[in-house]
Amino acid sequence: MIKVAILGYGVVGSGVYEVIHKNEKSIAKKTGGKAIQVKYILDLRDFPDHEEPHLFTKNFDDILQDPEVSIVVEVMGGLSPAYEYSRAALYAGKNVVTSNKELVAEHGTELMEIAKEHNVNYLFEASVGGGIPIIRPLNQCLAANEIEEIYGILNGTTNYILTKMITEGSDFAGALAEAQRLGYAERNPEADVEGYDACRKIAILTSLACGKYVNWRNVETQGITSITRSDVAFAEKYNAVIKLIGFAKISPDGAVYIRVCPMVISKEHQLSDVNDVFNAILVKGDSIGDVMFYGRGAGKLPTASAVVADVIDAAKHIHINKIITWKKVDHDFLVDPSSVVGRFFVRANSKAVIDDFANAEFLGNDGDEWFFITKEMTENAFTETFANRGAFLRVLD
Ligand code: HSE
Repeated sequence: MIKVAILGYGVVGSGVYEVIHKNEKSIAKKTGGKAIQVKYILDLRDFPDHEEPHLFTKNFDDILQDPEVSIVVEVMGGLSPAYEYSRAALYAGKNVVTSNKELVAEHGTELMEIAKEHNVNYLFEASVGGGIPIIRPLNQCLAANEIEEIYGILNGTTNYILTKMITEGSDFAGALAEAQRLGYAERNPEADVEGYDACRKIAILTSLACGKYVNWRNVETQGITSITRSDVAFAEKYNAVIKLIGFAKISPDGAVYIRVCPMVISKEHQLSDVNDVFNAILVKGDSIGDVMFYGRGAGKLPTASAVVADVIDAAKHIHINKIITWKKVDHDFLVDPSSVVGRFFVRANSKAVIDDFANAEFLGNDGDEWFFITKEMTENAFTETFANRGAFLRVLD
């Protein structure tokens, strides 16, 4: 019998409890006969109507001091006390499984190191892509490859909002309210709509892929709050859609170009058809070529699916560290984005702006807003010529 403690009984925590119970028998077969049993649930709130009210505690020490608990599921979110509890659990020789991308992006290096020192595991499959398997594939199934590129739709809330704007002509505020009602959005939607959630996720994936810690604070990040219905309509004229993309290109010399921004994507591209709360991650490896991971990127049971898979993995490796790691390096390996070449989708505030861009492709106008796409140029050259006369998005070719 493997005894588990769940820290946090919110959307994901209650999903973890539900999946462990619902699939109890098949889970026991996958661990080689060891049943998984929830022994504690830590939450500050009371749940008097719960079917097992005796599981609840408000005191983390009950869990920490109990030698029977070998796996701690941290699904509290946020940095504190999730960080202190995870650290203490690992030091106490317990495995920790989490969906907490904020914590992994901030303290993952240290927590993986402590896990290694204590022959246990810090597993975080659910931190990126909700229910989509992507951490384990990068760490195991694609381990033979040098990873060259990662392109991801990594945030369900913004993908849901953009899908509503594209398919139903909704405005941003209405679509966001609906995403919050459905439980996709973070408590503070700023993390979703300003791109910080996607930024932490691409930083985690890139750290794994290149073996070096990418600090999410150093990733150029732009959200979707300034996307207008006209942007969506003129992208459509160009046979394209607008998606929030987190991407990283890893050069053979170890340099990394990483960024999060809304991009204009041709409808021919695999990522253009990823809608609603779905996420997708397109990975390019030097041996496998392109491989795409697709599924539900948020929500109670999809996220619980990934968390419980990690619980099963931890149960099979109770005192064996699985070596998931990246290192902190002291040299700067991130490419300066201003030197990167690309094309730009422009919403200019006067027709004259177009004349400053040779060979631009004119898309049309909506009153005083003029839309066009530039030819390839460096971002530096673009911003100098553009001189803030409107707004722009990058084109994903
Ligand atoms: N708020 C996140 C999203 C939840 O919308 O994708 C899953 O990480």
